[in-house]
Amino acid sequence: MSEYAAVPGPADWTAKDYSEVDRWAESMGAAEVAELQHAAEQMPTDMREWVGLKPADIPLKSIGAKLARITDDLERGRGFALLRGIDLPSDDFDRVRRMKWVLAVNLGDVIAQNAKGEMMGSVQAEFEGQRTADVRGYVSRDELRFHCDGGDVATLLCVRQAPVGGSNSLVSSVAIHNAMARECPEHLPTLYRGLPLYMRKESASEGKLDSATLPRIPLFRLSGGQLVCFSNLKLMELSYETAGISMPPEERAALEAYEEIAERDEMKIEFKLEPGDMLLTHNLTVMHKRAAFEDDPDPAKARLMLRLWYNVRGGRSQAFQKPEERRGYFTQAPLVIQEA
Ligand SMILES: [Fe+2]
Repeated sequence: MSEYAAVPGPADWTAKDYSEVDRWAESMGAAEVAELQHAAEQMPTDMREWVGLKPADIPLKSIGAKLARITDDLERGRGFALLRGIDLPSDDFDRVRRMKWVLAVNLGDVIAQNAKGEMMGSVQAEFEGQRTADVRGYVSRDELRFHCDGGDVATLLCVRQAPVGGSNSLVSSVAIHNAMARECPEHLPTLYRGLPLYMRKESASEGKLDSATLPRIPLFRLSGGQLVCFSNLKLMELSYETAGISMPPEERAALEAYEEIAERDEMKIEFKLEPGDMLLTHNLTVMHKRAAFEDDPDPAKARLMLRLWYNVRGGRSQAFQKPEERRGYFTQAPLVIQEA
């Protein structure tokens, strides 16, 4: 196989394969929800003790086969999954967090997702108007472009959905690669070489990041015959913008071709999460995005998602990532959430 040839496999999918969500989503049964709620009640009261919990501490026996199937779909299959029907209490956010943590611990090793070291984040609109380079997109109501998150798997649990907009879209990075191999292979050497990635300097009380830009991150690379993908177009553009340097024309052209293919209707699937839905995407094969939304003016009813990143235990990324590359956001002391 030449370096820039198409790489076939189950992660090479297009919209026609998965446009009907009901055909591929997993649903929780009543007994499984009851088991999850029971496990959530067994967790320590002190959230600081959640960090060290292992699956054996809060096992999910009856949901185990379902979670194993989801892990298989993520690691060796299409690279995404949707778990539906997680009956969340609307009046007990602490319980919602517990249920999310139990599921996460049973799926993998949770990692920090921001400079504060937080391992579970509330995705809620907080910011009006123009964003600067250092404000994370998930606190806005704007459309977010296709991107990957950190770690192997990004999860999003819908607690409350927006009345208008806010749908999620997925696209296979592998399918984009293969379309480029067929249509415009001249761009692939540039994307295999990669682009520098901007690291936001978040206003955190601790762990302010020193390094503004990481070295070149390949958008595509081959590992053991498998295609490994990663991209965040906005952060790759910002690496040049914040340095006051024009992006080289061949990199600009390659990114534009990449995003044009990602945005084709025949490539991406779109759906709207409902309360109790948890979306899981494998960052090395799938990109995700979110549409702009209008929120409920009542903060108690506003759109709310719980976000969490984890690494798959024994996952395939271990073959090419060093341990220090697998710990998520650089932080000395990960914690579940930083209490206000
Ligand atoms: Fe994301």
